[in-house]
Amino acid sequence: MELAAGKPGFLRNIVVRFLLFSLLVVGVRFAYVITIRGESCRLGDDFCFLSSSASPENHDIVTAAGGRIGSSSVTLNPTAAASPEFRKRVMFYITVFQDLIVDGFLSTKSKSLCVETPVGDDVYALREIGVDDSVGIHKKASKPLVINGLGHRHPFEDNTFDFIFSGDSALDKSEKAAEFASEIERTLKPEGYVVVHTASIDTYSFNSFIRLFNSCSFIRSRKIDGFGSENPQIHEIVMKKQTGVETTSFSNTNRCSVVPGYKQELLKKAEPLIESEPLKPWLTLKKNIQNVKYLPSMADINFKQRYVYIDVGARSYGSSIVSWFKKQYPKQNKTFDIYAIEADTHFHDQYRNKKGVTLLPYAAWVRNESLVFEINQTPGDENVVKGRGMGRIQPVKSGGGIVGSTDVIQGFDFADWLKNTVTEKDFVVMKMDVEGTEFDLIPKLIESGGICLIDEVFLECHYNRWQKCCPGVRSPKYEKSYGQCLDLFRSLRQQGVLVHQWW
Ligand SMILES: *[C@@H]1O[C@H](CO)[C@@H](O)[C@H](O)[C@H]1NC(C)=O
Ligand SMILES: *[C@@H]1O[C@H](CO)[C@@H](O)[C@H](O)[C@H]1NC(C)=O
Repeated sequence: MELAAGKPGFLRNIVVRFLLFSLLVVGVRFAYVITIRGESCRLGDDFCFLSSSASPENHDIVTAAGGRIGSSSVTLNPTAAASPEFRKRVMFYITVFQDLIVDGFLSTKSKSLCVETPVGDDVYALREIGVDDSVGIHKKASKPLVINGLGHRHPFEDNTFDFIFSGDSALDKSEKAAEFASEIERTLKPEGYVVVHTASIDTYSFNSFIRLFNSCSFIRSRKIDGFGSENPQIHEIVMKKQTGVETTSFSNTNRCSVVPGYKQELLKKAEPLIESEPLKPWLTLKKNIQNVKYLPSMADINFKQRYVYIDVGARSYGSSIVSWFKKQYPKQNKTFDIYAIEADTHFHDQYRNKKGVTLLPYAAWVRNESLVFEINQTPGDENVVKGRGMGRIQPVKSGGGIVGSTDVIQGFDFADWLKNTVTEKDFVVMKMDVEGTEFDLIPKLIESGGICLIDEVFLECHYNRWQKCCPGVRSPKYEKSYGQCLDLFRSLRQQGVLVHQWW
């Protein structure tokens, strides 16, 4: 989806003029109140300019949009009201809301809610421009503007408000983004507007954002200057609640066929695939990890329902999960749910009592069926890891090709499990190291559409590579060639999947 383009120049011009005029009115009034009426100001000199009681005459100032400046009759918590920061914020929100009135998303008659607003600066601004039926919620009430309530649990009935505002990047900071969004949709009336301010301004996070709101349609978005030097630009997104049935534009249908623009953008920035077979794969592929452009280093991963890491062929807990994912993967401070998929019972004890880690003690496969699983290494195998075999698997019936001890284990339909475990609202990272089974699993993921649910993939592709031990000799363990691996990586990138070559 494209961001809405700017308005035609002349309209923008009118809005700017109107804003300047409004500022002038407020400014003149400020000077007037301070110099002439200062002594009667209820709130202390610092805040007189917004106090209506000090200057009843100004009730007659009617803005072009029909809002009246200075009609509020709220008594503020004196400490909050006295702060210059509060005053600055109120000024900011007044211009924001006046813009929204001009554009028809808000009117003085709108029953309005501001979510997660600690001191109610936005509610104050609303009342100041005449939106009298407005209230804020925060975990700590600050009466009369703000009552007790949470962003992901509003203390209101369904379909209560005409207008809901979430300022100050509250949704960015929420650890329950999906519930935050659905709660807004619940208490907003059909045809009502929701306006959100966020510090996330890239197309990736924009897409995640839109996906969070099931029953709203996107109206427009624009970048505006925030307040304070540390908050230079923010994104203002306007959405409207649909009437009747929920929109289906982002439902769980197979949407692999068209690669959306925000994914193409990432793929353009990704490190290139290694096109020619490396002569020293044990060096080249390992070094390639330093070239990897991690998705969270290129895009803002805000606004996801859950953050999930799936380690397919996890082996020991300390290997890829701790030494790489926990320590090195850039997580933007998000907490990830980890799924470790490892059929080798030798490793299972390590996964006991690991918080946030779920072990699936089975083999990822294309169907639910029993498999022959290789336990001991073949003689002379370079891939010996602490006496363990590398876990190649085969369906029981066709069990040939594996030398050494085997065990019968349970394989499960990985693509099916994935589709039942994560949704398009989640951020999903997958590492896959499955000893050649990738040539079965990846095509199945593509065919089933499950691949669309994965945001970033780290894939070790197993082929008959040159061996370190014995120059000129290829590994006998795998049949596939480097070219076939490259085709697998290319097919994933063509599907819009940000895949990296893992070693
Ligand atoms: C993560 O949190 C730390 C401390 O709370 C903060 O300094 C840092 O900027 C945060 N990083 C990101 C990417 O948000
Ligand atoms: C595989 O087995 C699991 C667990 O019993 C089950 O939930 C799932 O539906 C099965 N999948 C298929 C495709 O049969």
